[in-house]
Amino acid sequence: MNKNDYIIRLETENDYREVENLAREAFWNLSVPGCDEHYFIHVMRSHEAFVRELGFVLEADEKIIGSIMYTKAKLADENGTEKPILSMGPLCIHPDYQRKGYSKVLLEHTFKKAMELGYDTVVNFGNPDNYVARGYKSCKKYNVCFEGDVFPAALLVKVLKDGALDGRKWFYHPNNADEPCGDTEAVAEFDKLFPPKEKAWQPSQEEFYIHSHYVINW
Ligand SMILES: CC(C)(COP(=O)(O)OP(=O)(O)OC[C@H]1O[C@@H](n2cnc3c(N)ncnc32)[C@H](O)[C@@H]1OP(=O)(O)O)[C@@H](O)C(=O)NCCC(=O)NCCS
Repeated sequence: MNKNDYIIRLETENDYREVENLAREAFWNLSVPGCDEHYFIHVMRSHEAFVRELGFVLEADEKIIGSIMYTKAKLADENGTEKPILSMGPLCIHPDYQRKGYSKVLLEHTFKKAMELGYDTVVNFGNPDNYVARGYKSCKKYNVCFEGDVFPAALLVKVLKDGALDGRKWFYHPNNADEPCGDTEAVAEFDKLFPPKEKAWQPSQEEFYIHSHYVINW
């Protein structure tokens, strides 16, 4: 992959279905049989937390093969002081183009844009393998946790500006943009708009379970 092989640009309305289909291809059977990320993207775009200026697609071979999205979230310290931050995701690269460095360029491109918009911290849930090379660290390293001092192993923090987090305890308050995904009937109805695909078990689902249930206690 070199710089002339791809274009990174903002998502437009004309891209919506292509991006949803891409997400479906990338996430299908990955965490659970089937997936809901295409529906998540669909509803996220009209949620108040969605950051349109950071919704980018990556084109290669004259099609969209990568997508990244961000929403607004916040951290709150023990005195109730709040800090606006970004939550990243979904991020996806078409299975035929994975492990070639495309997510790296999408992340680096959007980190720069996020800084230009005034953000200095990005938080997301994910498999650390995909993110540590991009400078993400365990939430524990930055003292970022959920209420109740819960430090999930999959809660990853990327600091865009040195010193953005000063060591005090921050509670992470995600937005509720993914709430509609709890409506499994709505997800199934939306999925009918796409070509049929078989739901199946695969080992990555167990990996996802382990990552998403693991909490750092020491
Ligand atoms: C996770 C995902 C976005 C990564 O995108 P990608 O374009 O394949 O990733 P990249 O090629 O940019 O590599 C990212 C990192 O993966 C690892 N990696 C790269 N090539 C690898 C290989 N051959 N084997 C194992 N790991 C590899 C490295 O850590 C790499 O960073 P580095 O090369 O700078 O060290 C993509 O695989 C995907 O869409 N997966 C399905 C959906 C998903 O899981 N999304 C993330 C959760 S929101």
